[in-house]
Amino acid sequence: MNQRAHHVAVIPGDGIGPELTEAALLVLDQLQPSLSAPVKTTFLDGGAGTYQATGEAMSAAAVDTVRRSDATLKGPVGLPGVRLPDGTEAGLLGGILRNGLDLYANVRPVRLLPGVATRLAAKPGEIDYVIVRENTEGLYAARGKGVGNDRAVADTLLITREGSRRIARFALDLARSRAATTGKGPRVTLVDKANVLRSMYLFRTVFLENAADYPDVQTDCLYADAAAQALVMNPEQFDVIVTENMLGDILSDLGGGTIGGVGFCPGGNYGVDCAYFEPIHGSAPAIAGQDRANPVSQILALAMLLDHLGEAPAAGAVRAAVSAALADGAVTITPDGTPANGTRHATRAVLARLG
Ligand code: NAD
Ligand code: IPM
Ligand code: MN
Repeated sequence: MNQRAHHVAVIPGDGIGPELTEAALLVLDQLQPSLSAPVKTTFLDGGAGTYQATGEAMSAAAVDTVRRSDATLKGPVGLPGVRLPDGTEAGLLGGILRNGLDLYANVRPVRLLPGVATRLAAKPGEIDYVIVRENTEGLYAARGKGVGNDRAVADTLLITREGSRRIARFALDLARSRAATTGKGPRVTLVDKANVLRSMYLFRTVFLENAADYPDVQTDCLYADAAAQALVMNPEQFDVIVTENMLGDILSDLGGGTIGGVGFCPGGNYGVDCAYFEPIHGSAPAIAGQDRANPVSQILALAMLLDHLGEAPAAGAVRAAVSAALADGAVTITPDGTPANGTRHATRAVLARLG
């Protein structure tokens, strides 16, 4: 075995975060012997609980550890009751990690897995796309900077040429690499509101300029409202979607709603030389500590992390074990998105099917 270790930071987070990261780390432990280098984990505090205890959502030293790690596994953070004087939530890490570390690409695969009962009458294979959410500008550029008073507040949506260029090329490259494995595409759909907002017209213009360098990638443009309908009525038309920050936030949870819930949805936040992986959903305070949360989102976030570390066979083994546990009925998901026999049972079922 190559003796160099992979250094992975772990942020358990708030609410269901600790139980989900615990589940994913059990999967990681079982995989350790099959990895090309051992994973060494470092636990970091971050989130609403940390804010309550220390006055900051994450210390500068902990952020630096994320920066220097080969990858970070993060649980959901935030508690709706823990707020800043301006009224927004105090325990979130998006501004600190996504903007602070310039992790500009938020990659959110939406894939219907075998055996999962959903509200839509879709079959596995018919919902299998990736939302690439611009992660550092858009409407979220206003985070912490809204101006106004108790009668009116303005939050500014910022789109830059450079921010649009790099996310467009990230999505176009991703479509190419997906085509190598899916046999579909490559195809990128730009989702925007360029009919109404000048900022979005710039986003679209820069996307189309860059798409011209990728003649092998089919491209199209959809307005976000029409995209919301299409994600429910014709999800099979999508391969890679690229979109503005807040639109990507909303549409990725919508996608989750079509595949059995956000508890099936992992995400990766990528910059040039730093990345972290998390479920797309939040800390689900109403079900926290009850062994009810679906651990699949966090386990699939671990799979994305393993791919990032260059441990593709282990990542594939994780995905196969999750699919097998669902396909053979060992794990069933109730209509509210929670596993019928609990988080720990679902995790054990995945562990039992790991090669
Ligand atoms: P949420 O995603 O926590 O919950 C929405 C719904 O989905 C709830 O019904 C919840 O029970 C359910 N749910 C979420 N994850 C689940 C899982 N793994 N298994 C089964 N059901 C699951 O959204 P919210 O209630 O709007 O937010 C709660 C807190 O989380 C807030 O503080 C919010 O700001 C924060 N948040 C954090 C992140 C993050 O850390 N990346 C993401 C979204 C929301
Ligand atoms: C997400 C979350 C965050 C976002 C919140 C918690 C700030 O909803 O990662 O999707 O809006 O980006
Ligand atoms: Mn969200």
